[in-house]
Amino acid sequence: MEKDLSNYRKSYEKGELLLADTPENPMELFQKWFHEIDAHFPEDETNAMTISTIGLDQFPKSRVVLLKRYTYEGFIFYTNYDSDKGKAISANPKVCLSFFWHGAERQIIIKGEAEKIAENLSDGYFESRPRGSQLGALVSNQSSILESRDSLDSKLQQLESDYEGKEIPRPEFWGGFIVKPLEFEFWQGRPNRLHDRIRYTLDSEYFWTKNRLSP
Ligand SMILES: Cc1cc2nc3c(=O)[nH]c(=O)nc-3n(C[C@H](O)[C@H](O)[C@H](O)COP(=O)(O)O)c2cc1C
Repeated sequence: MEKDLSNYRKSYEKGELLLADTPENPMELFQKWFHEIDAHFPEDETNAMTISTIGLDQFPKSRVVLLKRYTYEGFIFYTNYDSDKGKAISANPKVCLSFFWHGAERQIIIKGEAEKIAENLSDGYFESRPRGSQLGALVSNQSSILESRDSLDSKLQQLESDYEGKEIPRPEFWGGFIVKPLEFEFWQGRPNRLHDRIRYTLDSEYFWTKNRLSP
């Protein structure tokens, strides 16, 4: 099979990013961009982000998860702690997050360290989820080999009847991670591949150094 994609070309012309216009704290620029995408390009699924981890096999692996909260401290998402990514983070907490918002021709790449959030925070979020999602978290040994779709469906039916009329407790193996950022790169597409790239690096607990990077 062969397909030549060399004619796939797009000029990026929707904006610019000037160092002089960027705030001291990158979380503020993240928030500004996030709000703009949410308001004008919601079809981009603003809170979908790619998280890359270094696996136990030493290979990087990337997959999409949903950002559920961000604060000055970091970025929170929820998952199964025993999944591939959960095990990878336990062994090596260094991760990379990335957002690609094609409507605005923007990308953000964030390097940081992930850690489990407090159990009561995971409890609170789990309680807020629809019952179907709670059961979904309970039923799935995420990333393990499944005999068949039927075996998953029958396990779900069993759980539905076990928990009928009862509150579903958060399983210990499911909860949130917070990624605490150490480096950000904000990318705005520009014509002729001469894109704007601004990198922030954390120097001390509170101070970020900003640089413009060559496209
Ligand atoms: C749009 C989208 C949102 C997703 N959100 C989550 C999520 O919030 N948490 C999660 O564990 N998996 C989520 N997934 C599934 C993951 O991409 C992945 O398949 C799963 O977490 C297992 O990954 P792992 O085996 O590398 O641990 C999402 C997938 C997509 C495409």
